[in-house]
This record gives sequence, C-alpha cells and structure tokens, in this order.
Amino acid sequence: MTLLAIETSCDETSAAVIRNGSIRSNVISSQIRLHAEYGGVVPELAAREHLRNLMPVARAAMQGARVEPQDLEAVAATRGPGLPSALMIGFKAAQSVAFVLRKPLVGIHHHEAHLYSPWIAADPPGADFGAFAANVALIVSGGHTLLVQVENESKYRLLGTTVDDAAGECFDKIGKLIGLPYPAGPEIDRLAESGNPRAFDFPRPMIHDPNDDFSFSGLKTSVRYFLRDHPALLNLRQPVCDLCASVQAAIVDVLVTKTMRAAARCRVSTVTASGGVTCNRVLRRELASACQRAGIRLRLAEPAFCTDNAAMIGILAERKLLAGMKDFDLDSEVLPGWQLDEAPGATAAAV
Ligand code: KG4
Ligand code: ZN
Repeated sequence: MTLLAIETSCDETSAAVIRNGSIRSNVISSQIRLHAEYGGVVPELAAREHLRNLMPVARAAMQGARVEPQDLEAVAATRGPGLPSALMIGFKAAQSVAFVLRKPLVGIHHHEAHLYSPWIAADPPGADFGAFAANVALIVSGGHTLLVQVENESKYRLLGTTVDDAAGECFDKIGKLIGLPYPAGPEIDRLAESGNPRAFDFPRPMIHDPNDDFSFSGLKTSVRYFLRDHPALLNLRQPVCDLCASVQAAIVDVLVTKTMRAAARCRVSTVTASGGVTCNRVLRRELASACQRAGIRLRLAEPAFCTDNAAMIGILAERKLLAGMKDFDLDSEVLPGWQLDEAPGATAAAV
C-alpha cells in the first residue's frame, strides 16, 4: 500500500510517503525560528506558515518517494489534537486529495501516532512491529506530558497527564527566565552537560503522589524566585550550567520516577518514550538505567521521530487500513481537543 500522510498540528509542516511499512520520504519544515522571537508558538502565524509551506513540502515528499498522485492508495492527516487553524490546513488539504483521487482518508490522533513512533526503525526507516509488546508509554513534548498504558496495538488507556505545564513547556519557560532562546530544551540539555545536577535543589512536583499525573508550573515558579534572589548568577557561565543541570535533573527525575512506577504497577515488560523532550540526553540515559535496573525493555523513539513528523501519522494510518478500518468520512472536521481515550481503539479512561 502507498499512502501520503500530512501533519500540521502545531509548528511543523510535514508530509511523508509510506509504502508497505517503509518510509519512502518524510519532509519536515519547522517554524521554530519564526516563533522564537515571541517565545512560543503563535497560532495565527503557524497557520499562515502551514499555508505557505504545505504544497512545497508535500511536493518534495512525493518527488522524494518518486510517487505520482495516481500511485496513492490512501491519504492520511492529523485530525487532532492541536491548534485548530493549523490542523484545518493539513486535514482539509488531505480531504481534497482523497476526494479527487477517490481514495480513503484516514484522520489520525496525533498522540496515538506518537505511541507508534518508538516502533519506527531509523535504518532502514520503517515500521518495526516485530518486537511489539504491551507497554507503558511516555509522550513528552512542548504541548503534552502523557503516560499511557498500551495493552496491545490498538488498545490503550490514558493513565495520567499534566495538570498545568507540559515538561517541554517547563524547559522552554525556565530557559526564557535564564535568557535562552526558544525552544530552550535543547540549549538546557547542552549547557547542563557542563553543570552539576546537585548544585541547586529544586522541587520535584507530584513525584510522590500515588496518581500518574504531572505538574511542572511549581518548578518554574521556584526557579523564578531563585533567580529573583540570585540575579548575579546569570552573569557567570558555570552557575548557569549548574542551574540548567539542576532544573533538568528535577524534570527528568519526575518523568522517570512516575513512568517506572506506572510500568511496575501495570506489570509491563516494555517502556517506550516519544515526543520532542525524548531527545533530551539525560532523560534517555536515566530511562535506560531505570529500565535496566527493573529488568524492563526500553524502546525510545529515534530523535528524528521524537518531534512531530508525518511519517508516524502514515505508519499508523497504514496499520489501521490493514487492520480493516473502514470509516472514511470526507465531511469530517478537525478535532482540536480530541482526547486520546476517545480515539478509535482506546478503552475507557478510568484507572
Ligand atoms: O514534539 P515537539 O517537537 O513539539 C511539540 O511540542 O509538539 O517538542 C518540542 C519540545 C520543546 O518544548 C523543546 O524545548 C523540547 O521539545 N525539546 C527538548 C529537547 N529537544 C527538544 N527538551 C529537552 N531536551 C532536549 N534535548
Ligand atoms: Zn507531537
């Protein structure tokens, strides 16, 4: 099967061509620089950029895969959750292509696709479901922090989410306080490499709570007060590195502790992680050590598939079509607030 997938839920315009489980092309145009001067994603700017970029990106994906429109057997796009106007551009474009080609359109839940991204192998790029096992999945990005129990390939339930800021948002907002450019996550990761993670003791919000929810706004507030009381610290390189390492340690500690506790309670043999924050090297390292100690297998999304991309949308769409999905409503609308437990295949949310 050959299909074209489109992703425009936030600030990445992406198109991919998938053929029989392999990724023939995956073109991503990131808007990060555009939003940097505002310190975060501006929805109207994101929509305008998607409008500008979608055709060149889709054309590049088709050309890169050496595929003609008549070769396509299906079209897939992210239906939600995400920024309403951004979602609409990719989803409506995909609907139009499907309508003209008279092919099925598959509307994909963005987080459901993130659940699949750790099962994409980088070389050769494509689906690698041979080793698939029930797992507890951490999805951690600038917009979301979710823990999900995946019972099998189409059955999962949301265990917990953030009650305020997402982990990536916490990296970005604390980075702004330190004076780092947006998005600050990669920069904090880099500066932390030369810092002491025990230099400053920041809170680990909700780490001992018995539920699987997260909270990161208290950590940001704590750093704000810390910097109010120690303003000169920002003028010196080593203390800034120590600050980055200490903040990063607090965020990673919460993510790893809560993920491992959920994995033990759900008695799964595998933990997975995806989303932009999964690029964080200390998070990758700490999850690896914790899983090794617990005798649990770890499956981390490759950095190229951690951040938003159309390949994961297409891989999941093909999977759904092969499993017999038949709901192809060409009049369907985007679902900006779509909850994971309302996605096709999810079970009830209650834990
Ligand atoms: O998944 P993503 O590209 O976009 C969405 O938010 O949907 O994730 C971007 C987020 C940003 O908050 C960014 O700061 C964070 O991922 N991020 C990182 C790292 N790389 C990206 N955070 C910590 N360490 C990193 N190396
Ligand atoms: Zn995402």
